[in-house]
Amino acid sequence: MASLIDRSTTAPGGFARFRRTRRTEALRRLVRETTLEPSDFVYPLFVTHGEGVRREIGSMPGQFQLSLDRLGPEVEEIVALGIGGVLLFGLPETKDALASGAYDPNGVVQGAVRAIKGQAPELLVVTDVCCCEYTDHGHCGVLVDGEVHNDRTLDLLARAAVSHAAAGADIVAPSDMMDGRVGAIRAALDAAGHEATPIMSYSAKYASGFYGPFREAADSTPQFGDRRSHQMDPANAREALREIAADVDEGADLIIVKPALAYLDVVARAREEFRLPIAAYNVSGEYAMVKAAAANGWIDERRIALEILTAIKRAGADIVITYHAKDAARWLDE
Ligand code: PBG
Repeated sequence: MASLIDRSTTAPGGFARFRRTRRTEALRRLVRETTLEPSDFVYPLFVTHGEGVRREIGSMPGQFQLSLDRLGPEVEEIVALGIGGVLLFGLPETKDALASGAYDPNGVVQGAVRAIKGQAPELLVVTDVCCCEYTDHGHCGVLVDGEVHNDRTLDLLARAAVSHAAAGADIVAPSDMMDGRVGAIRAALDAAGHEATPIMSYSAKYASGFYGPFREAADSTPQFGDRRSHQMDPANAREALREIAADVDEGADLIIVKPALAYLDVVARAREEFRLPIAAYNVSGEYAMVKAAAANGWIDERRIALEILTAIKRAGADIVITYHAKDAARWLDE
């Protein structure tokens, strides 16, 4: 078998000259294995009730909670930058034990989908399907004896997904980590005539400290306890492959690994084992760390953000869900 290293016979000692293809930008571009395009990015948006709201999220500089009447310019910018799509999270006016706002046909996310589709029908709209932003206790589903009850939560998730599809969402993305939710959502979508709506499942979602800033952004901090009874243990990678396989089995069309940076091994293993599209979620804490270090002048934000996004794609992600999307799209265009 030929050597993996193309040894040069003319060089003294016959060593390989890797530097030949690194000398100029033209050469580097020619042999580049991974490229970034704005269309690779999905940009999360936090939509809130009320009017005239454009509230910056303290721990996520440059990210805002927006009321529906303030979405217009944002959507225009996202379309102009060629970003692949948006992922919607909702802050409802009221919360209750059964997360009614999550599946209210006139809920904040459903309204945002209609508003965005009315303005820019071609912009891909993905909706997050979970109960945590809509329950008064901040947990991802129905509580029974202080625990999130798996099977009773499935019905609420299915109703939420159907309401999003009915409002015009292009993709629904369940992030709750209940067992069996992809199958339940698929069945409900099909029964409601939404058999053409794809499911992008957060299949391998870890119980991560990196979601800290998001919980401020989405007002979804659990009032007691944590999410370790349903989100994955950061110590496990083989189990992620089983989670993904189960979701594929139940009908997932795309899968998500989340967070991204501390889990690139999971992205790479998922890429090897599965053939369907893989998204990686470059989460709020990963973004906040870059922004904080950049604000202190400790790192070059542009360089680091593009390096991170490239690394996530290099690991095997086809799609990167990222708060850097707008900046990165601008930098790539320069
Ligand atoms: C749940 C959800 C969370 C995130 C996305 N969907 C929070 C959680 O599981 O607690 C986190 C995203 C981020 O940190 O950027 N609806």
